[in-house]
Amino acid sequence: MQRYPLNNLDSRRLLVAPSILAANFAELGNEISRIENAGADLVHVDVMDGHFVPNLTIGPPLVQSIRKLSKLPFDVHLMLTNPKAFVKPFADAGADNITFHVECSDNIEDTIREIRSFGCSAGLSVRPRTSADKLIPYLDKIDLVLVMTVEPGFGGQSFMADMMPKIIRIKSEIRKLNRNIHLEVDGGIDTKTVFMVAEAGANMIVAGTSVFRAAEGADEAIKKLKSAQIKLS
Ligand code: DX5
Ligand code: ZN
Repeated sequence: MQRYPLNNLDSRRLLVAPSILAANFAELGNEISRIENAGADLVHVDVMDGHFVPNLTIGPPLVQSIRKLSKLPFDVHLMLTNPKAFVKPFADAGADNITFHVECSDNIEDTIREIRSFGCSAGLSVRPRTSADKLIPYLDKIDLVLVMTVEPGFGGQSFMADMMPKIIRIKSEIRKLNRNIHLEVDGGIDTKTVFMVAEAGANMIVAGTSVFRAAEGADEAIKKLKSAQIKLS
């Protein structure tokens, strides 16, 4: 399985991962080409089980069918109560990064090991109401932190600015370790909020609605999001 691992991405640049949850599923192939041509760095795939979050979205067959359409890293976000059982199906379907939630019911370290055993990078995500304290003990074992700035389950929600201290806190903990850990922020990111989270230390952002529903088109939207590039130390 050809992998496009995240560690090939330059974590000093602001990386944009459009979420296909906001795309037109009837035109998914064209939508993915659109964002790839517009300079997207990854494809964010939101997987929901209707249990961990009150929504049900896509599974491994869809990832498999779009895998051959793009050479961008697939950044798969598992909002599942039991993510460990789905690591192999998504890794086999073509996931490059697999992120799951620290609030899930599976053993965190076993799940990280399972993800890594397929050559994928491992990410850990926190819901808004979960303290950074729950995630920080795993920092030295993961490749990516995903801070949710909306309650997971749906696209198109408003950015939760009260998540900023958590982003700043996690970034300072990452800086203490000399490991290349991506700090990704997800939910309500648009051409305004992107500056706040980049300033706070995010080097990767998820954007669904603000890219796929942008009045000015996905390419303009992605360019504007990337303009929030600050000198990432
Ligand atoms: C929410 C998902 C997000 C969401 C982002 O549970 O994890 O990735 O789709 O969509 P926007 O950018 O529209 O908030
Ligand atoms: Zn997501």
